[in-house]
Amino acid sequence: MNNKHILITGASRGIGLEIAKMLAEKNYSLVLTTSNEISASKLSEMSFVKNNNVKVYALDQENKLEIASFIKKWDQELWGIVHNAGICKTLGIKDEGDDPLDEVLNTNLIGPYLLTKKLLPFLSRPGRIVNITSQLGHEGRAEYSAYCASKFGLIGMTKCWAKELGEEGITVNAVSPGWVDTEMGKLDMNRMAEEAGKTSEQYYKEICKPLELKRFNSTTEVANLVSFLLSEEASGITGRDWLMQTIWNEL
Ligand SMILES: NC(=O)c1ccc[n+]([C@@H]2O[C@H](COP(=O)([O-])OP(=O)(O)OC[C@H]3O[C@@H](n4cnc5c(N)ncnc54)[C@H](OP(=O)(O)O)[C@@H]3O)[C@@H](O)[C@H]2O)c1
Repeated sequence: MNNKHILITGASRGIGLEIAKMLAEKNYSLVLTTSNEISASKLSEMSFVKNNNVKVYALDQENKLEIASFIKKWDQELWGIVHNAGICKTLGIKDEGDDPLDEVLNTNLIGPYLLTKKLLPFLSRPGRIVNITSQLGHEGRAEYSAYCASKFGLIGMTKCWAKELGEEGITVNAVSPGWVDTEMGKLDMNRMAEEAGKTSEQYYKEICKPLELKRFNSTTEVANLVSFLLSEEASGITGRDWLMQTIWNEL
């Protein structure tokens, strides 16, 4: 039996859900968040949640007041935090329309910062922090300035926190997937395929060409890496940004 508690944000689907299932199998105790009550209650109904030591909370990390009240009630020692929750919204710098900058930065960057700062007293020494970033934390893509800013920023924070917390035995790493087969990955690809006047299948083949594996990463592959970085065995690895495949350049 593993007595370690891990907080995973954005665990209702995609990468976060896969990480949660994998860690539950490894007998970690989990605290999972989703953005709202509906997705939280759907997650609570899943069998791996019911059959393991897993708590689920709704926490909209775009909302600083919600983060404050979530933290106020916190009384649990933690072995690790996985900052996975994220959104991707686009708008060209020359374009009019709803500007996603505040929403994306609050959710993807300010949220992890506030949660880490306030939960740090509850993090064990040694302990682990894993930030899910992106290949778009390494390169720019037209119309993705809000998302890129959030992911470049989270990689920067990873390196700062590693330097500040290393002496206490807390490791901090970033995992930067390229394309992953999730709702976010598919929506993104379909939108770009449509703009390019191609079918999703044609576009998928094209964007996979420069990738070493010639395919998207699976959620399991991302979860495997996260699971290792959270383990005792990863005690000597910190301040690194684990880019999972090559950077995808504009076609
Ligand atoms: N998929 C990719 O190709 C890819 C590539 C690189 C990096 N990433 C990163 O990997 C992480 C997970 O992505 P994914 O593909 O699994 O995305 P996803 O399928 O869209 O799932 C996103 C998760 O984040 C949660 N979330 C969204 N807004 C939130 C908010 N305001 N407060 C709290 N939770 C919120 C969602 O909860 P609800 O269900 O409640 O909305 C959901 O659990 C993200 O940080 C993303 O940027 C993804």
